[in-house]
Amino acid sequence: KMKPIWLGTSWKMNKPLSQALAWCETLAQRLPQVTHPDIQSFVIPPFTAIHPVSRFIQQHHLPCLTGAQNMHEAENGAWTGEISAAMLQETGATLVELGHSERRGAFNECDAAINQKVHSALRHGLRPLICIGDSADEKRWQVSQESVVRQMKIALYGLSDSQVLQTLVAYEPIWAIGEQGTPATPEQAAAVHQALRQALCATFGDETGQRIPLLYGGSVNLQNAVELLRQPDIDGLFIGRAAWDANGYCEIVQRVTQEFILQAQ
Ligand code: PGA
Repeated sequence: KMKPIWLGTSWKMNKPLSQALAWCETLAQRLPQVTHPDIQSFVIPPFTAIHPVSRFIQQHHLPCLTGAQNMHEAENGAWTGEISAAMLQETGATLVELGHSERRGAFNECDAAINQKVHSALRHGLRPLICIGDSADEKRWQVSQESVVRQMKIALYGLSDSQVLQTLVAYEPIWAIGEQGTPATPEQAAAVHQALRQALCATFGDETGQRIPLLYGGSVNLQNAVELLRQPDIDGLFIGRAAWDANGYCEIVQRVTQEFILQAQ
Protein backbone atom coordinates (compact mmCIF):
# COMPACT_ATOMS: atom_id res chain seq x y z
CA LYS A 1 0.00 0.00 0.00
CA MET A 2 1.23 3.46 -0.92
CA LYS A 3 1.97 5.67 2.07
CA PRO A 4 0.33 7.60 3.53
CA ILE A 5 -3.26 6.37 3.58
CA TRP A 6 -5.48 9.43 3.12
CA LEU A 7 -8.61 9.54 5.31
CA GLY A 8 -10.73 12.66 5.29
CA THR A 9 -14.15 14.17 5.30
CA SER A 10 -16.02 17.07 3.75
CA TRP A 11 -18.83 18.41 5.90
CA LYS A 12 -20.64 19.82 2.84
CA MET A 13 -23.08 22.58 4.00
CA ASN A 14 -23.24 21.32 7.58
CA LYS A 15 -21.98 22.43 11.01
CA PRO A 16 -22.19 26.06 12.06
CA LEU A 17 -19.18 27.12 14.13
CA SER A 18 -20.35 25.70 17.47
CA GLN A 19 -20.80 22.26 15.92
CA ALA A 20 -17.57 22.57 13.96
CA LEU A 21 -15.60 23.22 17.14
CA ALA A 22 -17.41 20.41 18.99
CA TRP A 23 -16.23 18.04 16.22
CA CYS A 24 -12.70 19.36 16.74
CA GLU A 25 -12.89 18.81 20.52
CA THR A 26 -13.73 15.16 19.99
CA LEU A 27 -10.97 14.89 17.40
CA ALA A 28 -8.48 16.29 19.93
CA GLN A 29 -9.60 13.74 22.52
CA ARG A 30 -9.48 10.70 20.23
CA LEU A 31 -7.38 11.16 17.09
CA PRO A 32 -3.90 11.15 18.71
CA GLN A 33 -4.64 7.75 20.30
CA VAL A 34 -5.94 6.05 17.17
CA THR A 35 -3.83 7.40 14.33
CA HIS A 36 -0.31 6.80 13.05
CA PRO A 37 2.14 8.91 11.01
CA ASP A 38 1.34 6.81 7.92
CA ILE A 39 -2.30 7.96 8.03
CA GLN A 40 -2.99 11.41 6.60
CA SER A 41 -6.18 12.86 8.08
CA PHE A 42 -7.99 15.86 6.63
CA VAL A 43 -11.19 17.79 7.20
CA ILE A 44 -12.97 20.11 4.79
CA PRO A 45 -15.38 22.48 6.58
CA PRO A 46 -17.60 25.13 4.99
CA PHE A 47 -15.72 28.37 4.18
CA THR A 48 -16.75 30.20 7.35
CA ALA A 49 -15.34 27.53 9.66
CA ILE A 50 -12.01 26.84 7.90
CA HIS A 51 -9.97 29.36 9.82
CA PRO A 52 -11.31 28.51 13.30
CA VAL A 53 -10.95 24.79 12.60
CA SER A 54 -7.41 25.23 11.24
CA ARG A 55 -6.42 27.31 14.27
CA PHE A 56 -7.85 24.72 16.68
CA ILE A 57 -6.02 21.90 14.92
CA GLN A 58 -2.77 23.86 14.97
CA GLN A 59 -3.11 24.85 18.64
CA HIS A 60 -3.76 21.23 19.60
CA HIS A 61 -0.99 19.91 17.32
CA LEU A 62 -3.40 17.47 15.66
CA PRO A 63 -2.09 15.55 12.62
CA CYS A 64 -4.92 16.72 10.37
CA LEU A 65 -4.94 18.96 7.30
CA THR A 66 -7.76 21.36 6.46
CA GLY A 67 -9.24 22.28 3.13
CA ALA A 68 -11.99 24.18 1.33
CA GLN A 69 -14.89 22.72 -0.64
CA ASN A 70 -14.54 24.97 -3.67
CA MET A 71 -12.90 28.16 -4.94
CA HIS A 72 -13.08 30.48 -7.92
CA GLU A 73 -10.45 30.18 -10.65
CA ALA A 74 -9.79 33.94 -11.08
CA GLU A 75 -7.09 35.75 -9.09
CA ASN A 76 -9.56 38.44 -8.00
CA GLY A 77 -12.14 40.75 -9.54
CA ALA A 78 -15.85 41.29 -10.04
CA TRP A 79 -17.04 37.85 -8.95
CA THR A 80 -19.60 38.62 -6.27
CA GLY A 81 -19.91 35.88 -3.69
CA GLU A 82 -16.80 33.98 -4.76
CA ILE A 83 -13.56 33.09 -2.93
CA SER A 84 -10.10 32.99 -4.53
CA ALA A 85 -7.12 30.71 -3.92
CA ALA A 86 -5.16 33.53 -2.27
CA MET A 87 -8.02 34.06 0.19
CA LEU A 88 -8.13 30.35 1.02
CA GLN A 89 -4.42 30.33 1.69
CA GLU A 90 -4.99 32.85 4.50
CA THR A 91 -7.43 30.52 6.27
CA GLY A 92 -4.93 27.78 7.04
CA ALA A 93 -6.36 25.50 4.37
CA THR A 94 -3.75 23.49 2.48
CA LEU A 95 -6.19 21.45 0.38
CA VAL A 96 -9.01 22.48 -1.90
CA GLU A 97 -11.72 20.10 -3.07
CA LEU A 98 -12.60 20.78 -6.70
CA GLY A 99 -15.27 19.38 -8.99
CA HIS A 100 -17.44 17.48 -6.52
CA SER A 101 -20.49 16.09 -8.34
CA GLU A 102 -22.74 18.35 -6.27
CA ARG A 103 -20.82 21.35 -7.67
CA ARG A 104 -20.89 19.94 -11.20
CA GLY A 105 -24.59 19.09 -10.94
CA ALA A 106 -26.20 21.89 -8.92
CA PHE A 107 -23.81 24.69 -9.94
CA ASN A 108 -23.02 23.68 -13.53
CA GLU A 109 -19.26 23.43 -13.03
CA CYS A 110 -17.66 22.16 -16.20
CA ASP A 111 -14.42 20.29 -16.79
CA ALA A 112 -12.71 23.35 -18.31
CA ALA A 113 -13.44 25.52 -15.26
CA ILE A 114 -12.23 22.77 -12.94
CA ASN A 115 -8.95 22.65 -14.90
CA GLN A 116 -8.56 26.41 -14.39
CA LYS A 117 -9.27 26.03 -10.70
CA VAL A 118 -6.61 23.32 -10.43
CA HIS A 119 -4.04 25.63 -12.04
CA SER A 120 -5.02 28.55 -9.80
CA ALA A 121 -4.89 26.41 -6.64
CA LEU A 122 -1.40 25.18 -7.49
CA ARG A 123 -0.16 28.71 -8.23
CA HIS A 124 -1.12 29.56 -4.66
CA GLY A 125 0.36 26.47 -3.03
CA LEU A 126 -2.93 24.67 -2.39
CA ARG A 127 -3.21 20.95 -3.13
CA PRO A 128 -6.27 20.23 -5.29
CA LEU A 129 -8.41 17.24 -4.35
CA ILE A 130 -10.11 16.66 -7.68
CA CYS A 131 -13.41 14.79 -7.58
CA ILE A 132 -14.64 12.83 -10.58
CA GLY A 133 -17.62 10.53 -10.86
CA ASP A 134 -19.87 8.58 -13.18
CA SER A 135 -23.66 8.88 -13.21
CA ALA A 136 -26.05 5.94 -12.81
CA ASP A 137 -26.81 6.19 -16.57
CA GLU A 138 -23.12 6.08 -17.47
CA LYS A 139 -22.73 3.02 -15.28
CA ARG A 140 -25.68 1.34 -17.00
CA TRP A 141 -24.24 2.19 -20.43
CA GLN A 142 -20.89 0.79 -19.28
CA VAL A 143 -18.98 3.99 -19.96
CA SER A 144 -17.98 4.70 -16.35
CA GLN A 145 -14.27 4.36 -16.97
CA GLU A 146 -14.29 6.47 -20.13
CA SER A 147 -16.29 9.16 -18.32
CA VAL A 148 -14.07 9.46 -15.26
CA VAL A 149 -10.80 9.14 -17.17
CA ARG A 150 -11.98 12.00 -19.38
CA GLN A 151 -12.91 14.15 -16.36
CA MET A 152 -9.54 13.45 -14.75
CA LYS A 153 -7.48 14.13 -17.87
CA ILE A 154 -9.19 17.48 -18.44
CA ALA A 155 -8.79 18.48 -14.78
CA LEU A 156 -5.04 17.69 -14.94
CA TYR A 157 -4.44 19.13 -18.41
CA GLY A 158 -1.34 21.30 -18.73
CA LEU A 159 0.22 20.45 -15.35
CA SER A 160 3.95 19.84 -15.03
CA ASP A 161 5.19 16.64 -13.37
CA SER A 162 5.91 18.42 -10.11
CA GLN A 163 2.48 20.07 -10.17
CA VAL A 164 0.59 16.85 -10.81
CA LEU A 165 2.36 15.29 -7.82
CA GLN A 166 0.67 17.95 -5.66
CA THR A 167 -2.79 16.80 -6.73
CA LEU A 168 -5.07 14.12 -5.32
CA VAL A 169 -7.89 12.49 -7.24
CA ALA A 170 -11.08 11.16 -5.65
CA TYR A 171 -13.30 8.72 -7.55
CA GLU A 172 -16.80 9.38 -6.29
CA PRO A 173 -19.52 7.57 -8.25
CA ILE A 174 -22.60 9.79 -8.25
CA TRP A 175 -24.76 6.68 -7.72
CA ALA A 176 -22.83 5.92 -4.52
CA ILE A 177 -23.03 9.33 -2.83
CA GLY A 178 -25.47 10.28 -0.11
CA GLU A 179 -28.52 8.82 1.61
CA GLN A 180 -29.92 7.32 -1.63
CA GLY A 181 -26.56 6.00 -2.77
CA THR A 182 -25.27 2.45 -2.67
CA PRO A 183 -21.54 2.16 -2.05
CA ALA A 184 -19.43 0.78 -4.88
CA THR A 185 -18.34 -2.76 -4.17
CA PRO A 186 -14.60 -3.11 -3.66
CA GLU A 187 -14.46 -4.83 -7.08
CA GLN A 188 -16.32 -2.01 -8.84
CA ALA A 189 -14.14 0.63 -7.21
CA ALA A 190 -10.97 -1.36 -7.93
CA ALA A 191 -11.76 -1.64 -11.65
CA VAL A 192 -12.27 2.10 -12.01
CA HIS A 193 -9.22 2.94 -9.92
CA GLN A 194 -7.12 0.64 -12.07
CA ALA A 195 -8.31 2.47 -15.19
CA LEU A 196 -7.52 5.81 -13.56
CA ARG A 197 -4.05 4.62 -12.58
CA GLN A 198 -3.37 3.42 -16.13
CA ALA A 199 -4.46 6.77 -17.53
CA LEU A 200 -2.24 8.63 -15.05
CA CYS A 201 0.76 6.47 -15.99
CA ALA A 202 0.05 6.85 -19.71
CA THR A 203 -0.22 10.63 -19.39
CA PHE A 204 2.51 11.46 -16.87
CA GLY A 205 4.76 8.40 -16.99
CA ASP A 206 4.85 5.39 -14.67
CA GLU A 207 6.96 6.94 -11.95
CA THR A 208 4.73 9.99 -11.53
CA GLY A 209 1.47 8.19 -12.27
CA GLN A 210 2.02 5.65 -9.53
CA ARG A 211 2.57 8.36 -6.94
CA ILE A 212 -0.64 10.35 -7.36
CA PRO A 213 -3.01 9.48 -4.50
CA LEU A 214 -6.32 8.00 -5.68
CA LEU A 215 -9.10 8.18 -3.09
CA TYR A 216 -12.51 6.52 -3.17
CA GLY A 217 -15.65 8.30 -1.91
CA GLY A 218 -19.36 7.49 -1.82
CA SER A 219 -21.10 5.91 1.21
CA VAL A 220 -17.84 4.92 2.86
CA ASN A 221 -18.45 3.67 6.41
CA LEU A 222 -16.87 1.64 9.20
CA GLN A 223 -18.10 -1.59 7.60
CA ASN A 224 -16.67 -1.13 4.09
CA ALA A 225 -13.59 1.05 4.70
CA VAL A 226 -11.05 -1.75 5.11
CA GLU A 227 -12.17 -3.80 2.11
CA LEU A 228 -12.07 -0.72 -0.13
CA LEU A 229 -8.57 0.13 1.05
CA ARG A 230 -7.39 -3.42 0.37
CA GLN A 231 -7.76 -2.73 -3.37
CA PRO A 232 -4.39 -2.06 -4.99
CA ASP A 233 -5.09 1.38 -6.50
CA ILE A 234 -7.12 2.82 -3.61
CA ASP A 235 -4.82 5.05 -1.53
CA GLY A 236 -7.40 6.70 0.67
CA LEU A 237 -11.05 7.34 1.47
CA PHE A 238 -13.07 10.51 1.18
CA ILE A 239 -15.92 10.22 3.65
CA GLY A 240 -19.16 12.15 4.01
CA ARG A 241 -21.93 11.19 6.44
CA ALA A 242 -20.03 8.48 8.31
CA ALA A 243 -17.45 11.02 9.47
CA TRP A 244 -19.72 13.93 10.38
CA ASP A 245 -19.76 12.52 13.89
CA ALA A 246 -16.12 12.85 15.00
CA ASN A 247 -16.40 9.58 16.92
CA GLY A 248 -17.44 7.84 13.70
CA TYR A 249 -14.47 9.38 11.91
CA CYS A 250 -12.03 8.36 14.65
CA GLU A 251 -13.39 4.80 14.63
CA ILE A 252 -12.65 4.53 10.92
CA VAL A 253 -9.13 5.92 11.48
CA GLN A 254 -8.63 3.43 14.31
CA ARG A 255 -9.79 0.44 12.27
CA VAL A 256 -7.64 1.41 9.27
CA THR A 257 -4.61 1.95 11.53
CA GLN A 258 -5.15 -1.48 13.08
CA GLU A 259 -5.61 -3.29 9.78
CA PHE A 260 -2.94 -1.68 7.62
CA ILE A 261 -0.28 -0.47 10.00
CA LEU A 262 -0.27 -2.25 13.35
CA GLN A 263 -0.99 -5.72 11.92
CA ALA A 264 1.58 -5.26 9.18
CA GLN A 265 4.35 -4.49 11.67
P1 PGA B 1 -21.21 10.21 1.57
O1 PGA B 1 -20.62 11.47 0.77
O2 PGA B 1 -20.05 9.51 2.23
O3 PGA B 1 -22.14 10.81 2.58
O4 PGA B 1 -21.90 9.33 0.57
C1 PGA B 1 -19.47 11.28 -0.01
C2 PGA B 1 -19.10 12.52 -0.77
O5 PGA B 1 -19.96 13.21 -1.32
O6 PGA B 1 -17.89 12.81 -0.85
